[in-house]
Amino acid sequence: MTLYSRIVGTGSALPERLVTNADLVVELAARGIESSDDWIFGRTGIRQRHLAARDETSSMLGERAARAALAAAGLAASDVDLIIVATSTPDYVFPSTACLIQKGLGAAGGAAFDVQAVCSGFVYGLATADAMIRTGMARRALVIGAEVFSRILDWSDRGTCVLFGDGAGAVVLAADERPGILASKLHADGRHEEILRTAGNVQGGAITGHPFLTMDGQAVFKLAVSVLDSVARETLEQAGLRIGDLDWLIPHQANVRIMSATGRKLGIAPERVIVTVDQHANTSAASIPLALDTAVRDGRIKPGQLILMEGVGGGFTWGAVLARM
Ligand code: UT7
Repeated sequence: MTLYSRIVGTGSALPERLVTNADLVVELAARGIESSDDWIFGRTGIRQRHLAARDETSSMLGERAARAALAAAGLAASDVDLIIVATSTPDYVFPSTACLIQKGLGAAGGAAFDVQAVCSGFVYGLATADAMIRTGMARRALVIGAEVFSRILDWSDRGTCVLFGDGAGAVVLAADERPGILASKLHADGRHEEILRTAGNVQGGAITGHPFLTMDGQAVFKLAVSVLDSVARETLEQAGLRIGDLDWLIPHQANVRIMSATGRKLGIAPERVIVTVDQHANTSAASIPLALDTAVRDGRIKPGQLILMEGVGGGFTWGAVLARM
């Protein structure tokens, strides 16, 4: 019998504090930095973002998202034997955010580890969990994307600080005889590591390097549109399916212009592309599971439908997972 993995529950969590573009523009102006809702919305499609409280961490948001996904799946934390957390803003250097979430959920015993692939982290984690389930290494997995990017933003750099938000999304992936995840493709090209990074660390008790996110926005934009197009085609081809078979495209939520350009290149109608960047801004590894959960809960994504999730981000990394819901 061939073993597959299926998404059997989704969940998400957002910090309470909602900051609209108008709020942010006022906060920036108080520091002498000029921006506008017109610029932010016009260039990115972002209208608002949620920002974590001072003591709110990726593990807290991830645990809330995981609990919601478990409830949707009708499963208990003790049913899970694998936890993968995609994050670039872990609580600590170590232990992993996955181990902290496992402790919070009271699900000791199974494997738990973090994946570091920045905004592609969720598809990297999902592809890894799928492979582990299909090879019998795990039966039920939580795959979580959780981020507090507000912690690594330079709030004096208007070119980046307006783009990101905090949040978490999660899925429960379970072994099944019916195919759920149909194909996955993952890629990286480390030659582009400089275009998007937070090149800092701790050394001897002090911060070394530059602990804030820096980005060459236009280089990221061009590369993103190109790889989101190629990896979508590659993943569908692996499953013997065509673009016309897709019910929904869920690209990484960084910029609505990147998503529209990708949709146009692929020939997907705009109403088939799930967009939540307007509500959440770019939440890095959390963006895809947040968008997925939003569209499952508002009734757009229905059981049996075919979805393609696509991540792209720092590294440079990119990848896609094709799934039957
Ligand atoms: O998770 C993946 C990570 N990131 C992405 O996917 C982002 C990819 N890149 C982008 O989305 C776009 O490149 C941005 C939205 C970041 C920037 O858009 P752009 O059209 O490439 O603008 P730009 O960087 O060329 O800046 C244009 C102008 C500049 O002014 P001058 O030099 O033309 O006078 C910037 O200083 O816009 C100015 N600007 C701003 N103005 C008002 C930059 N940030 C702001 C701001 N408010 N917040």
